[in-house]
Amino acid sequence: MGTLVSIDGHIVPPENATISIFDRGFLYGDSVYEVMRTYDGVPFELDHHLRRLEGSAARISMVVPFARSLLAEETLRAQQASGNADSYLRVVVTRGAGPIGLDIALAETPCRIIIVKSLEGMRPPASAYEEGVQIALVGVRRNLRAAIDPKAKTGNYLNSVMALAEARAAGAYEAVMLDHRDFVTEGASSNVFVVVGDVILTPPADAGILIGVTRAVVLEVARSAGLRVLELPLTQETLCRDADEVFITSSVREIVPVTAVDARIVGDGRPGPITRRVMSLFSEYVAAYVKAHRVS
Ligand code: PDD
Repeated sequence: MGTLVSIDGHIVPPENATISIFDRGFLYGDSVYEVMRTYDGVPFELDHHLRRLEGSAARISMVVPFARSLLAEETLRAQQASGNADSYLRVVVTRGAGPIGLDIALAETPCRIIIVKSLEGMRPPASAYEEGVQIALVGVRRNLRAAIDPKAKTGNYLNSVMALAEARAAGAYEAVMLDHRDFVTEGASSNVFVVVGDVILTPPADAGILIGVTRAVVLEVARSAGLRVLELPLTQETLCRDADEVFITSSVREIVPVTAVDARIVGDGRPGPITRRVMSLFSEYVAAYVKAHRVS
């Protein structure tokens, strides 16, 4: 069980996983990527992730010269070769190597990389799900959409790296960033949901966020179950003062209850009833997805 890397379709152990020093993904963060996990060996929402990767590439004018089906096949092959019960899967496409220079015309052939590693150790401890975590509203602002659109999941992740560094320095598990107009956007690597009364609130897709796959599933299952869900601009007052419940979502961590925003305890300091209901609905969705996609 362990870590394998597929580079342009060739599966190698991590110690042999090398790419050019002149690759733009390394030099400039000039790449796009997706992170997903498996359940029972099944990559969850694989097609959704690969479609988003194509969308990210389009947003940075990167041409991906291989089919989604090839990436899917190589991802499945690497997962099966890993022997992991469940994996963390990272699919990366760089714009490629070439003569040093910012001009994207200098890039030669995009490089495709798939990192497969055991899921163990990639998720927060069980206590995070039972007791909740603390998040910090950090000073680092989310990238302007007109600078690098957060809808594009690129290798240029310093915005998130620095946001999380500030949160961790404050003793918090995750950061939450405001945009340039003081509206709440998202976490360093998660989407944010707030519950006020019996209404679930989350920033809209055009708020300058990554449109999370987990976020999309949460919206679908919550609405299907008759829960009230609104996608609308979130003020920091709603998050920091009015919230009765808060949770964050991402592929690897799924749904993590938040019981403190900075020093403020959310609700009664325990994961709320609507958060727990959404977690249960999500698990039912996952079970159905795995049943429908399990490779016999
Ligand atoms: N990131 N927002 C940001 C900035 C993210 O990096 C992520 C996930 C999300 C949640 O998206 P999804 O539900 O599709 O995982 C939101 C992955 C987990 C990562 O970079 O490791």
